Amino acid sequence: MYIGIDLGTSSVKLLLVNSKGEIVKSVVKEYSLQYPKENWMEQNPEDWEKSTFDGLKELIKGYENDIKAISFSGQMHGMVVLDKEDKVIRPAILWCDQRTSSQCETLNSRYGKKIIELTGNKALTGFTAPKLLWLKENESENFKKINKIMLPKDYITFKLSGDYSTDVSDASGMLLLNVEKREWATELLKELELSELQLPKLHESFEVVGELSEKAKKELGINNKVKIIAGGGDQAVGAVGVGVVKEGVLSVALGTSGVVFANSSKYFADEEARLHSFCHANGGYHQMGVMLSAAASLKWWVEDINHSKDYDIFLEKEAMSSQIDKNLFFLPYLMGERTPHNDPNAKGTLTGLNIQHRRGDITRCIVEGITFALRDSLELIKSMGISTDIVRVSGGGSKSEFWKQMIADIFNLRVDTVNSTEGPAYGAAILAMVGDGLYKDVNAACEALIKVVDTKYPNENNRKIYDEKYLKFKRLYPALKEI
Ligand code: XUL
Repeated sequence: MYIGIDLGTSSVKLLLVNSKGEIVKSVVKEYSLQYPKENWMEQNPEDWEKSTFDGLKELIKGYENDIKAISFSGQMHGMVVLDKEDKVIRPAILWCDQRTSSQCETLNSRYGKKIIELTGNKALTGFTAPKLLWLKENESENFKKINKIMLPKDYITFKLSGDYSTDVSDASGMLLLNVEKREWATELLKELELSELQLPKLHESFEVVGELSEKAKKELGINNKVKIIAGGGDQAVGAVGVGVVKEGVLSVALGTSGVVFANSSKYFADEEARLHSFCHANGGYHQMGVMLSAAASLKWWVEDINHSKDYDIFLEKEAMSSQIDKNLFFLPYLMGERTPHNDPNAKGTLTGLNIQHRRGDITRCIVEGITFALRDSLELIKSMGISTDIVRVSGGGSKSEFWKQMIADIFNLRVDTVNSTEGPAYGAAILAMVGDGLYKDVNAACEALIKVVDTKYPNENNRKIYDEKYLKFKRLYPALKEI
């Protein structure tokens, strides 16, 4: 048996998978998110630890001595800092936290284009290096206590194995990695007054990091040796989970954030770093655009504003039966925006309302706004000459047939659904299998395990309307920015 653990933003999902790749059991444990100030988002690593250990105990009941390897997927970029006693110094500052605008300005203006040469990327508020600079400038006592820096899933690896480890896909989002060479960018460490000793050991996602420690085995009631495999950032591992490991196939992940992800076997960094240029979990590279509020915008509308959880009624019934309104627009920037605007202060907007609009029209327009914002990333990917033939959709939003058809129409691409619906947790289980030697590499595992089960093609009529509507959508953000 193999275990894939996906440490997300709202919950940890644990999957037990047999050696044929079949899912035997899954467990989800939720935890909370703290908003200490507007646009600040934090979580307690101890909450992740408790939920993961509780979840593991439930997951392996009856299979305690059948587990061969465990691997991970994790929410990216979060800053976890430990002191000399390995105690968490302060709550983790998360990927969606926007407090570091001025630190990003400092890094980008001090380094200019050199930061792209050094890391393949530029400083963005979500990334880890600006968070460390923020800590240095605002909580200097905490900064001085740092003995180890890690990413969210690496904290769980540490608690399970005692190893300080990370992997190149997740480390790419720290802005401390030379992505091309897959090694730490030491010049930037100097800037932050940090040393390589404070960073975890770098691995490929499918490599063995160590073993489940005696302490963890005792707590979980396990007697056998269990390999711990490095794992990766949730986007790269999610892409593995839906088999996006080849040129031409894109992953669109509709989680809290929304991501358009393209595999690329060679390293490539855009001059302006308009997309993230990161290491992939299969040993290669990838380009991706990240919008911050995808399913988060829909959740805000359905759950917070309308006090419902019935997504089926909102999407498959009401929105599906509404007509496309060429003048009704939604900008989904409820938590600021990363790609393409890099604007922590960007705001959401609903515009073009009239007295005849009903809830279904607004739901449709919200889903359109999110999908247009994803198309912004698709256009950037295309402009870099990366081939874009097919889309594979995953994440909570992929349960909606309505949304998947809209992606086909707005992207003008074929949209495939695959047999694995567990995304990053399944990708993590694949990495555990590869790490244990069951497959020769990640691509071979994906080839054997992931199959297409449904395909949607663009509706020509809707495609035309959406092409026109997208041009107007693009004009809205710059126009409203002035207000
Ligand atoms: C990726 C990103 C988000 C988080 C969400 O760059 O910030 O997708 O990883 O979990």
